[in-house]
Amino acid sequence: MVTKKQTVLSGTQPTGALHIGNYLGSLKKFVEIQNQYQCYFFLATYHSITGDYNPQEKKQQIFDLALDYLATGLNPEKCVIFNQADVPECTELAWIFNTITPLSELERMTQFKDKAAKQTKNINAGLLNYPILQAADILLYHPDFVPVGQDQLQHLELTNNIVRWFNNKFGQYFKPVKPILTKMPKVMSLAEPDKKMSKSAGPKHYIAINDEPEIIKEKLAKAVTGTGQENHLPPGGLNLLILLEEFGTKEETTYFQKQLKNKNIKYSELKQTLAQAISQYFADFREKRKKLAQKPQDIEKILKNGADQARPIAQKTLKEVKKLVGV
Ligand code: ADP
Ligand code: TRP
Repeated sequence: MVTKKQTVLSGTQPTGALHIGNYLGSLKKFVEIQNQYQCYFFLATYHSITGDYNPQEKKQQIFDLALDYLATGLNPEKCVIFNQADVPECTELAWIFNTITPLSELERMTQFKDKAAKQTKNINAGLLNYPILQAADILLYHPDFVPVGQDQLQHLELTNNIVRWFNNKFGQYFKPVKPILTKMPKVMSLAEPDKKMSKSAGPKHYIAINDEPEIIKEKLAKAVTGTGQENHLPPGGLNLLILLEEFGTKEETTYFQKQLKNKNIKYSELKQTLAQAISQYFADFREKRKKLAQKPQDIEKILKNGADQARPIAQKTLKEVKKLVGV
C-alpha cells in the first residue's frame, strides 16, 4: 500500500537578514524535515508589509530570503518554495476567515500588542488581521505540521480555533494543525537577553546567519553578559552558553561549563570561542549564498516553479470552501 506523505508548511517574513534565532527556531528544522514530509516553505510577503517598510527595498528582501532558504539547504527538488504574493488565494480565504473570527480574539494576540506598541503611528488593520492571513496560509494546504518558533504558538492556537469555528458553522472540512518546535524555540537578544532575538530591534540585538566573521566577533564582544563571578548565571551568559552548545564542539561546551561551576567563567574567552564557532558553522552557507546571488534568474525561476505547484492546491481548497460558505 502506498501511504501518502504527511504535509508540513511554514513561512518567514522577508523583512531583512535572517538571524541565528530564526535559524535555530525554524529554518534549521525546515532543512531537516524536507526529506521526510511533503513540505511547503514560503516567503510571507503580505505579512511583512504590515510593518513599517520601504517599498523600494521589498524586492531585495524577497530575493535575500529566497537566498537564505536555498543556501541553508532547502532543496527545490524536495520541497515547494514560493512567494505568498504569487498565490493570492490566501487573501481570499483570509477574508472568509475574517467573517468568523471575533475581534476580541485578535486584540488579545501578544504579537499584535507588541507590534502596536512599537509602531504607534502605523497600527493598521493588517497588523490586527495578521494571524487570520496566517491561518489562511496554513489551511489552504491542509498540513499536518507547522514548524515555528515559540512566539508563533499563539497564532497556531488561533488557527485551530478558526478550524473549529469554520467546521461548526459550515460543516467538517479543515483539520487542526500541530506545531513542531525545535530544541531552541526562543533564542534571546544579545543586547537585551531578557527579550527574544529579533530583527526589528536593530543589528546589535542579533547575529545574522550571513554576517561576516569580523561582524560576528564585534557583535558578540558587545553582548551583555555578567561579571562571571555571580552566584547565578545571568540570562545573557546562559544565552551564549546555549548557543555554544548548538554551534561549538562538545569539548568547548564542557570547558566553559567547568569554568561556570567554579564561578570563574571568562566571558571574553567564551565570546571569542563562540564567534569562531558561529563563523565556521555558516562558512559554507556564506559561500553558497554568494554563488546563488550571482544568478538572480535562477532564484526567480525557483519561486515561479514553487508558486505553480502551490497554486492548484490553493485553488482547489478555495473552491471547496466557497461552496461550503455558499458564495
Ligand atoms: P522576527 O521575529 O525576527 O521578525 P520572523 O517573525 O520572520 O522573525 O520569524 C521567522 C521564524 O523564526 C518564526 O518561526 C519565528 O517563530 C522564528 N523566530 C523568530 N525569532 C526567534 C528567536 N529569537 N528564537 C527562536 N525562533 C525565532
Ligand atoms: N507569522 C510568521 C512569523 O512572523 C510568518 C508566517 C506567516 C507563518 N504565515 C505563516 C509561519 C504560516 C507559519 C505558517 O514568523
